Amino acid sequence: MKLWGGRFRKETDSLVNDFNSSIQFDSRLYQEDIMGSLAHAAMLADCGIISREDHALIHAGLKDILADIEEGKVSFSAGNEDIHMNVEALLTQRIGPAGKRLHTARSRNDQVAVDLRLYLRREIDEIIGLLLGLMSAVLAQAKLHQNTVMPGYTHLQRAQPISFAQHLLAYGEQFKRDVGRLEDCRKRMNVCPLGCGALAGTTYPIDRRQTARLLGFDGPCANSLDGVSDRDYAIELLGGLSILMMHLSRFAEEIILWCSWEFKFIELDDAYATGSSIMPQKKNPDVAELVRGKTGRVYGSLMGLLTTMKGLPLAYNKDMQEDKEPVFDAVDTVKMCLPVFAGMLGTMRVLPENMRRAAGGGFINATDCADYLTKKGMPFRDAYTAVGNLVYYCTQNGKLLEELSLDELRGISALFDEDVYDALNLETCMAQRKSAGGPAPEETARQIEELSNFVEERQNG
Ligand code: ARG
Repeated sequence: MKLWGGRFRKETDSLVNDFNSSIQFDSRLYQEDIMGSLAHAAMLADCGIISREDHALIHAGLKDILADIEEGKVSFSAGNEDIHMNVEALLTQRIGPAGKRLHTARSRNDQVAVDLRLYLRREIDEIIGLLLGLMSAVLAQAKLHQNTVMPGYTHLQRAQPISFAQHLLAYGEQFKRDVGRLEDCRKRMNVCPLGCGALAGTTYPIDRRQTARLLGFDGPCANSLDGVSDRDYAIELLGGLSILMMHLSRFAEEIILWCSWEFKFIELDDAYATGSSIMPQKKNPDVAELVRGKTGRVYGSLMGLLTTMKGLPLAYNKDMQEDKEPVFDAVDTVKMCLPVFAGMLGTMRVLPENMRRAAGGGFINATDCADYLTKKGMPFRDAYTAVGNLVYYCTQNGKLLEELSLDELRGISALFDEDVYDALNLETCMAQRKSAGGPAPEETARQIEELSNFVEERQNG
């Protein structure tokens, strides 16, 4: 018979049993479920709601079940629906009547809410750790390439000279914000719904602060209806993970471009690339492509859960059982993507001479040429037009700006002098961009230091 079988006179249809049960996927919450029960039972005993003897039996029984699950000795049953009822049924089987007292002043509604928060809190810590690992890989490459000139792009058109370090550090900043978002989400997640009961709290003299404290929460959540019906924390996490995947996907896209023959800015390590079954010459960036592809999957989880929660009346509704699979899938996906991406970055071979060659075409020193005239006194807008004319002249004559003779330059403006050639030199153009946050080596060094401090504070803290 079901734990809730009292008011029923018929067995559940076997189709309904399978349809209704969540044990296939929520068994992954066993540890959190047992931790929650241990805290709840201790509180019940301290508040005089169950006896010390019953508490001792419950405590020992739960610990045994935990150990047995960990050793693979327990098989769960779909008849017992979910992890909560499976653990409770096992407990009663093992310790007898005392097991039946565990669910006093509790409902599966506050139980599942506490389990999921505990689980996601732990996963957030793990994901932050992996993100910091990825940031370290970004930083290690950035340190090596502060003087590696490459074209910076807008509209995927060569725009202005930057260093490869500067480009990588832009992703470093994105990942730093991702860490911040996850830390922020964790903070809001860290309140305890235990004691909300089914929806309306309880008449027993429970101590919600105690269970919250025992489970490492900052305190109990404020409203019992909200406590059992809130899944904001899961949605926020999926939001944060979706943004993180968006960042990875943009980075992946660039890796894919960079290792194409058209760019050839990098070469992936053999251990992080794949071949073709038919084309012998191929070396494909499958890792980057899969990360880009899996981004859609994480967005799907976010949209799925938002849609599940949309329009649900207070408080708990069974629809909410559909929260787990998308959340688990997104967490698993992100945890797979982060280390493989870090490995790919850490092992890729950077080809500075190709970056430099690409930087040499496309007139990416045109802004610097206009700035040269401006510094000599010409209003910027006039300088802009003058250099536009020079670029046009160059395209007609197959030349670069720095290849024009002084006479040719002076045909456009008398302000040009010998020192223009240094001003047009790409290394100079990059190194002179010293404005805060710019690509000049002293600025990338500062960015590297700040980002490294951010990572180290967390890794050592
Ligand atoms: N398995 C359920 C879930 O995941 C637990 C809560 C069930 N509560 C209920 N009243 N049916 O949401």
